[in-house]
Amino acid sequence: MVYKQQAFLSIKDHAGIAPHMRIAQLTDTHLTTPESDAEHAPGRADDLARAVEAVNALELEVDVVIHTGDMTQTAVDAEYNLAREILDGLNAPLYVVPGNRDSRGGLRSTFGPDGYMGGQGDDPVMYVINDHAVRLIGFDTQSSTSMLANLCADRLGWLDAALADCSNEPVAVMMHHPPIWVKASTVKPFNFETQEDADALEGVIAKHDVARVFCGHSHRAYGDDFGGTECTTVPSLATDLRQGDYPDAMGASVVFQVHEYSPEGRFQSQSHVAGAKAGHQVAAA
Ligand SMILES: [Fe+2]
Repeated sequence: MVYKQQAFLSIKDHAGIAPHMRIAQLTDTHLTTPESDAEHAPGRADDLARAVEAVNALELEVDVVIHTGDMTQTAVDAEYNLAREILDGLNAPLYVVPGNRDSRGGLRSTFGPDGYMGGQGDDPVMYVINDHAVRLIGFDTQSSTSMLANLCADRLGWLDAALADCSNEPVAVMMHHPPIWVKASTVKPFNFETQEDADALEGVIAKHDVARVFCGHSHRAYGDDFGGTECTTVPSLATDLRQGDYPDAMGASVVFQVHEYSPEGRFQSQSHVAGAKAGHQVAAA
């Protein structure tokens, strides 16, 4: 299987200037088409639309937006078409990886035309983005048999080689399932099929200098050390699925994070809140 590696664009063009990059992370939108009968359908599309508006309105513009999976609820074409329609409103380039709710084929047929994904059909969605101050590696943790993460020697080997190729430049990894124990979670703190897979991934990460591992899936903000770097998760954009304690006054306000690369070689993260639409109701969890 061949995964696409984009041509290297050197940041040496910016000699003398510390690499700088701002990333907005969206995740777990679980979009359902408004035409469906689901009570939460209009709310989830609205959550994403408000996030797009808020990202575009940030005082400090972001360089890229990443979506770390579970873009859709049932992975049907209509949900991906809706996602595309809303996400096309972003001013910054978007990079996506699949979650357990996604279909690789659906994601690829919808976002493949953007040109960065490579592969075909249901191939794992894995790629390297070289167009920014920090290289971004999209890594696919999807399992074909469960909602949990599953890795194989091919995918781990690909990641090891991709990280080795980035050894002289800042690099971050984005993927859906967190390989850490999200101890704050009362639902399911560990989301790999086996600890051995998570340990093998940690071994690969530990071999390289990785600025951050960005994850979704847990629907809450959390972070821990992983292979010598920081692995973090962020709240789901779908407000009816968000985990964690938030003030009642926040209601259905959307929460997302912006990660800013620092000269020290790591990212610093800040949460942003986009207010609820007037009259918007939170669906029952
Ligand atoms: Fe999710």
